[in-house]
Amino acid sequence: MATPRILSGIQPTGNLHLGNYLGAIRNWVSLQQDYDCFLFMADLHAITVPYDPKQLAENVRKVAATYIACGIDPERSTIFVQSQLSAHSELAWLLNCITPLNWLERMIQFKEKALKQGENVSVGLQNYPVLQAADILLYEPDLVPVGEDQKQHLELTRDIATRLNFQFGSEAQPVLKLPEPLILKAGARVMSLSDGSKKMSKSDPSELSRIDLTDSPELLQKKIKKCKTDPERGLEFDNPARPECHNLLNLYMILSGQEKTAVAAECAEMGWGQFKPLLTETLQTALRPIRDKYDQVMAEPGYLDQVLAQGRERADVVASETLGRVKAAMGF
Ligand code: TYM
Repeated sequence: MATPRILSGIQPTGNLHLGNYLGAIRNWVSLQQDYDCFLFMADLHAITVPYDPKQLAENVRKVAATYIACGIDPERSTIFVQSQLSAHSELAWLLNCITPLNWLERMIQFKEKALKQGENVSVGLQNYPVLQAADILLYEPDLVPVGEDQKQHLELTRDIATRLNFQFGSEAQPVLKLPEPLILKAGARVMSLSDGSKKMSKSDPSELSRIDLTDSPELLQKKIKKCKTDPERGLEFDNPARPECHNLLNLYMILSGQEKTAVAAECAEMGWGQFKPLLTETLQTALRPIRDKYDQVMAEPGYLDQVLAQGRERADVVASETLGRVKAAMGF
């Protein structure tokens, strides 16, 4: 039997943060033992909002280095750059022509991002989820491991595939395979350090709102020192009136590898003055190996070139095959 496959990607729009790690990359690392993994840098997605062309290529490399630093093994997994495979854009166009416009008008992430941009919203931003569907469907993955915020895009991907199969395939011979999302509960929604009701995000203008995976120990200490808390003593999970408290305890729980009940008991009587140094140290310990490996990979540009060239080749075999099948079914 063929090894089951996963596909996932991240936009190279800035440094990767703890949400990207806990919601996505960490799960890819554990899945790569049992799955054939296709992991990419979504650079075509990164240009749907204003960006600096001088930094795009470098950001792609930084994200690739972060994947490897977090434990993705390029021998075992395929790491590639979305824009290097024209099949993504081509399938996106084909899917565009069968996707009803009103399906895109419902997308929450579009509404959020469009709101931030005012007048300057591109057609690309609205179209973004169709490109994401193409990214996924090209590789016929069994599972797509992502954070909670991508759930709606995965549902749309399934809807588009179902529609294409209905219009151009048959029940016995579907053109595209329907993928399942994989959203693990712990870490699926890491919240901002400045507001526990907002998700941690690369696009938040405040650096202090997020923990980047390559933050120095000193910066980690500063960010935790300044992060938003509340005036109460005693720390607890799941109190809706204390979102920051829940988020920080959750981070401590995941990064220290402890059970929720153990953390709840350990922190029940603590004040912030006692908890913050504990969380800082846990973060420093967890992120140190990632930072060290990242520096090592970034210092070897030849190695990264080779990983991406190999990734492109392997991805192309699968993507071309699927694109050919879709084009044939659609009458080309
Ligand atoms: P992006 O670049 O915003 O985020 C990459 C991954 O990180 C997860 N994530 C989070 N998880 C938990 N807490 C957070 N605060 C947090 N912030 C981000 C995201 O859920 C995601 O898994 N549209 C995608 C990129 C993409 C893609 C794809 C993903 C393009 N094509 C195909 C999967 C399959 C995005 O913008 O992710």
